[in-house]
Amino acid sequence: MAAQTVYQPLEVDDAEVAGESPNVKYTYNDFSDDEEDDGKLRLLEAPENSARQRSGGYFAYKQGLIDGQSPPWYPSPNGGTVSTWADSYAKAQKLVEQMTLVEKVNVTTGTGWAMDLCVGTTGRAGNTGFPALCLQDGPLGIRFADHADSFPAGITVGSTWNRELMRKRGEAHGRAARLKGVHVLLGPAMGPIGRNPAGGRNWEGFGSDPVLQAVAAAETIKGIQSQGVQATAKHFVGNEQEHFRKSFEWGLPEALSSNIGDRALHEIYAWPFAESIRAGVASIMCSYQMVNNSYACQNSWLLNGMLKDELGFQGYVQSDWLAQRSGVASALAGLDMSMPGDGLFWQDGKPLFGSQLTLAVLNGSVPVQRLNDMATRIVAAWYQVGQDSREQNEPNFSSWTNETVGKWHDGADDSDDTGVVNQYVETSTAETRKVARQVAHEGTVLLKNEDALLPLNYHMRELNLERKAKVIVVGEDGGPAEGGPNHCADRACNDGTLASGWGSGASEFPYLVDPFVALHKSFDAGAVELSRILKNKLSAAEKQMIKEQDLCLVLANADAGEGYLAWNGVYGDRNDLELQKGGANLIKDVAALCGGPVIAIVHSVGPVIMEEFADLPNIKSIVLANLPGQESGNALADVLFGRVDASGRLPYTIGRSLADYGQTAPVLYYPNHIVPQVDFKEGLYIDYRHFDKQGLDPRYEFGYGLSYTTFEYSNSTIESLKAKSPLPAPRLPELTPPDYKNAPLDPETAMFPDGFRRLRKYIYPWITSAERIRKVPYPYPLGYDTKREPSQAGGGEGGNPSLFENHVKITVRVTNKGARKGQEVVQVYVSFPENVTDPVSGEHIDMPVRVLRNFEKIDLRTGETKTVEMFLTRKDLSYWSVAQQNWIMPDDEITIHIGRSSRDLRYDGTY
Ligand code: BGC
Repeated sequence: MAAQTVYQPLEVDDAEVAGESPNVKYTYNDFSDDEEDDGKLRLLEAPENSARQRSGGYFAYKQGLIDGQSPPWYPSPNGGTVSTWADSYAKAQKLVEQMTLVEKVNVTTGTGWAMDLCVGTTGRAGNTGFPALCLQDGPLGIRFADHADSFPAGITVGSTWNRELMRKRGEAHGRAARLKGVHVLLGPAMGPIGRNPAGGRNWEGFGSDPVLQAVAAAETIKGIQSQGVQATAKHFVGNEQEHFRKSFEWGLPEALSSNIGDRALHEIYAWPFAESIRAGVASIMCSYQMVNNSYACQNSWLLNGMLKDELGFQGYVQSDWLAQRSGVASALAGLDMSMPGDGLFWQDGKPLFGSQLTLAVLNGSVPVQRLNDMATRIVAAWYQVGQDSREQNEPNFSSWTNETVGKWHDGADDSDDTGVVNQYVETSTAETRKVARQVAHEGTVLLKNEDALLPLNYHMRELNLERKAKVIVVGEDGGPAEGGPNHCADRACNDGTLASGWGSGASEFPYLVDPFVALHKSFDAGAVELSRILKNKLSAAEKQMIKEQDLCLVLANADAGEGYLAWNGVYGDRNDLELQKGGANLIKDVAALCGGPVIAIVHSVGPVIMEEFADLPNIKSIVLANLPGQESGNALADVLFGRVDASGRLPYTIGRSLADYGQTAPVLYYPNHIVPQVDFKEGLYIDYRHFDKQGLDPRYEFGYGLSYTTFEYSNSTIESLKAKSPLPAPRLPELTPPDYKNAPLDPETAMFPDGFRRLRKYIYPWITSAERIRKVPYPYPLGYDTKREPSQAGGGEGGNPSLFENHVKITVRVTNKGARKGQEVVQVYVSFPENVTDPVSGEHIDMPVRVLRNFEKIDLRTGETKTVEMFLTRKDLSYWSVAQQNWIMPDDEITIHIGRSSRDLRYDGTY
């Protein structure tokens, strides 16, 4: 069964998967023709923007664009310009100076899919001691690894709104990666952001608001990197849906183009990446699809212009797996690392970097300086997280087998080299499991709680019955999957309780505590008779049984995942926002039948429509438990029984229908052009920005969530710390990047060493013959010779440092007025003045009703009061001016709201 297919997403045949040998972790379709390198100069094939010309998509491109295409931005800025990376760059320069041409190339290129133990492995620079780097998914655990926690998914983390906890989860995740010998974790994910509520991978990220997404991403990155592991901010950018995300995966030669306007790019999609860079992220993964009709991994405007100039990114850009679609063009556009090293197709031994990059440098197509910068960025990132002094530098697990002894080069069919590939190193501890549980319970959102039905008592004595209380758990989602939690490859099926979405962002559950088990453990068996019907279709006898209950808990779910796998007609993206497997009907049936009140519990990858049951009088409580990971049941019981407060808040809006999310919110399920064109016409107006602008009443708004206690807000103050001024300070001079004295290139050093045993399809940096170094004029992209001026919005990590100066200080006193201790999330929203006119272009600047800009979660004992202090920076108080290419702070009054959700605002003030 293919997990990473090339042409069509696969239907997963459950029967086949269940019978699969547990030792086969991953197999792949091999579409290669087994040819030797044909010596064609593949690098010359695909200059920037050529995709649309080759595919006939030119027409589409003409029609489809909104705010313009992707202008050229050259040359690629060199790293080494900021002081926080200065030491690492100095060390990196010394190391790279010792590298030969092929060694430099080797560190930029993966060895090919499944050629080594990790999902991606770079070549080493042997003579300098620079190791092969192990790159491994992913955002919620260590993929394809044993003895590692499956933490709650990003969407659950976002729902906690707890910065410290986000950091702790990052630390625990990074620690596991280090112990397994992973150098580069392929997470956190912060794109997709959820423009399409049914988008297949939204759950890997933290929610549908750039600030929430950015805070969670930055904390996760700091946590991961504190453990000596490089984090990867992915997927840059605009990878909002799975259909047509990748060329050849959906029956089309090219991937779709996300056509994003410059303002939405800055204010929504790139914001979390900017904050990740500010947090010091080592790597950024460019995404599969095109942005404004240029592939994201060869889009010079995005990589050179935005990431490396404007946002001052000092680390390296790696491609998503086969997202690279050209050689020289990508290198010039700012791509630094080719992953997994294969070229246009999986495992055909024909790289776009590797030997081809060596050739391209030798024939002058790629300047040596560009290669030096690529290598330096990678080596500097390694120093930056202290990997030069790390004990565990070799991976001790194999992605391709669970056996102790296995192949070192599993994907190389002509290699039989074996050894101990799995050492089963334990990474999970009581402490990491505690973090997993805490994230799961703090990420559980209580949406409805009438008659204070929750929290429950263990003995249910408040019912005053003279017999045992009868409680039932109904629904497949309440129990385990028959074949165990890992029985489908990459979790691509929805069986039993749902604790993760599917795809590369899923990991192997070390265990999965299902809801029934945990409830069973919690209820007092002497006082409560707990039964279960762990399926979604009820027989007459079961219906009768439900009628006899004093309390019913009904569970339902909705699943989605990455588009290379499909389940039950869900090709990555969901087909709608409904509960799956008849979940809504089940909830309605139980509501109609149950002899007592009903608690509806939902596990989901994203928003589901709850209209059919949310108002039913018998449904007293609704709990959204998101994707809780291995501790699912325990965390749910923690909330249901009130062992903790209900403290999750919605990381997206729950609307009343998909249509409510706006005209452009549905996924594009059928291609509209040869290169499908997805125009982000809604601009800034996704999720609550759309609902607020249209005056739509959502079922539950962004930021919403009930607590078991009540909070009072008082004495709020909004203090101006700095005067307003429209523009950030002028860009300051930066450090000078490493300057290499380039010795003349000697093609002889680039030849395969004598007697070297080559594995077929393995990616090497060497070339076979010097005759292939032909100096022919290279068709550089249009605009290549025009040097770009540095952006005035740049000058530091994440942007111009003056953007991050605090302009406003907010204080508010919050008191716990209830009878229990609890946790409150204080949220700060900003409303920009309505009649802003851009001073340069004279155009009216349309502003969202309000946008989240800060938040803080606090713990409060009964009666306790805390003063919460929060700040707003210049960037928080500015809009992106397309005309001025900078962040502009409007002159007129800005309103600042403090509240409990995007619609429950308690205080307003102005700046
Ligand atoms: C995904 C990435 C992932 C990579 C490696 C790709 O299919 O889009 O998120 O990191 O595979 O597994």
